[in-house]
Amino acid sequence: MTRRDALKSGLIFSTGLLSAGWQSRLHAAEPQTSFSKKGLHFLAVGDYGTGKEAQKKVAAQMNQFAGTLDAPLSSVLALGDNFYGMLDEARFGPHFEQMYSKQHLDCPFYACLGNHDYGPQYDSKQGRVKADMQLDYAKKNPNSRWKMPAKWFAVEFPNPVTPLVKIIYLDGNFAEGAMTPQEKLGQKRWLDEELKKENKAKWTWVVTHFPMFSDDTKRKDNQGLIKNWGPLLKTNAISLYLSGHDHNLQHLQVQDYQPSFLVSGGGGATTYETTASARGYSKQIFGFNHIHVDEQKITVQLIDADGKRLHAFERDLGGKVKVLGA
Ligand SMILES: [Fe+2]
Repeated sequence: MTRRDALKSGLIFSTGLLSAGWQSRLHAAEPQTSFSKKGLHFLAVGDYGTGKEAQKKVAAQMNQFAGTLDAPLSSVLALGDNFYGMLDEARFGPHFEQMYSKQHLDCPFYACLGNHDYGPQYDSKQGRVKADMQLDYAKKNPNSRWKMPAKWFAVEFPNPVTPLVKIIYLDGNFAEGAMTPQEKLGQKRWLDEELKKENKAKWTWVVTHFPMFSDDTKRKDNQGLIKNWGPLLKTNAISLYLSGHDHNLQHLQVQDYQPSFLVSGGGGATTYETTASARGYSKQIFGFNHIHVDEQKITVQLIDADGKRLHAFERDLGGKVKVLGA
């Protein structure tokens, strides 16, 4: 395949920019807040469920930033590790409902399950019950912003009749004690069918807790996910893969894979170190992502807990990625 053909198919991104090193060329700046009126706004945040100061600071900044936008948010994409430690229903009030102000975050929070949202091998003895409690809270409180219709599901924005974006939520908890063998099989069958279905949306994103690729210093790429879902991300027109788990902010472009890979794990839990690479941008810092999407392009901004824009890029329908402010 020639470079021109590859660019057309979206398989190669701006490799010139990649090799020039995004890390060294970018400086913190004020975020963009004005966008085309026909688009939709989203925030994404992961690894927040501590109830402590850092979560409060990021939550307050998400609210403040959303208040500067010229249109309301369509959704907050909640990327998992929603509650660290033991969970009971009383925590949903202080650690979710009141944590994320309704002032400017008055939209559905579509959430996936992280490893800490299951129990035994991590920080609680609750096992699968902990995940079930989060599903139940959504069912029992349909007026809450907390939305978790299932462990895996698809949701379309602004609506299923004329969708601009389809978001596929997946559960990546393949470890012992988390998803059951039946669930793993059920999700796989569902995903294969979902990707075969007619898709009226211009853009399709995948949301799950675990990064497939990561420049986290200790954790690196997830070989299990690369084997399980990697082939689907080479052959399907998926423009964003959003995850958390690694407690930092990252944007990576990986040769031969369609999506832009975002790690947004800076929601409140102690941050993890990153190692710079030619694949993109990474930083050990608290923060969140803002995504604006319209018929022509996606704009993504990585924003820290002080409201500064650390990194931003646009992506067009052909898959071409342009780093902003570089
Ligand atoms: Fe995690």
